[in-house]
Amino acid sequence: MDPAQVQRLLAETFVQHVCWMEETGSTNSVAMEQAAHEIPLPALFGADLQNRGRGRNQHTWWADQGALTFSLLLHPETTGIQPHHWPLLSMATGLAVSRALEKILPTGSVQVKWPNDVYVHGKKICGILLETIPEKPSLLIVGIGINVNNSLERAPVEFQSTATALCDLSGETLDRTSVLIQVLQVFEQELQSLSRSAGPLIRGCRERCFLTGRLLTVQDVVSRQTGMCLGIDDDGALRIMTEGGPQRLFTGEIISID
Ligand code: BTN
Repeated sequence: MDPAQVQRLLAETFVQHVCWMEETGSTNSVAMEQAAHEIPLPALFGADLQNRGRGRNQHTWWADQGALTFSLLLHPETTGIQPHHWPLLSMATGLAVSRALEKILPTGSVQVKWPNDVYVHGKKICGILLETIPEKPSLLIVGIGINVNNSLERAPVEFQSTATALCDLSGETLDRTSVLIQVLQVFEQELQSLSRSAGPLIRGCRERCFLTGRLLTVQDVVSRQTGMCLGIDDDGALRIMTEGGPQRLFTGEIISID
């Protein structure tokens, strides 16, 4: 990213500080280290190439030249997010990316896989990793990886049937800075909306829910449950109908979908 693009980011979005690297291991790890310093927030840490990206549940995140990988370090309370709404921030991030991608992709094609993966035509296009910082509990790191110009044709074979990229869907190379600006602008809107009420966020995720009506298995720390997904509750819980009756899930990894 050149200095003019950094200036665009500062002028057109709510970020107050930009650190853009040619290559790094994980932008979330950089944000974690930088949280020890006094820097203006929200701060953006991004990389043209991330070579050791971290995913949820100890997974790794594949990225290649052309991917958009970045992390925001922010103080949610300054943006009006009260502590009881923190658990909804991962869904708010997924919805923000979905709404930003809807400006580029055909209407109705973008879905949110609870709690925060973004899918297009049944394939993952964006992963999100939220992390807290033990030494700075009032801060949050929002890490976002979007497959933009990293065609899945060059991806390891195990991702080719499960993931997709904007360039593969649109058939053209996109301006990554413009995609990033869209995502940051919509994310700020989602934070403002959540500071007033969780209603629009829940409705937005329900409308785009990839899981509703599907049979799935969810693994959390202590148990594994299989059931038909009934949708998302008003508090963000995933509702599933298991053989033993209805269940409400607040965390967990979806390990299979039929
Ligand atoms: C997942 O789907 O498991 C989450 C993937 C999150 C990847 C992003 S890329 C930018 C940021 N830095 C990381 O190391 N991870 C997140």
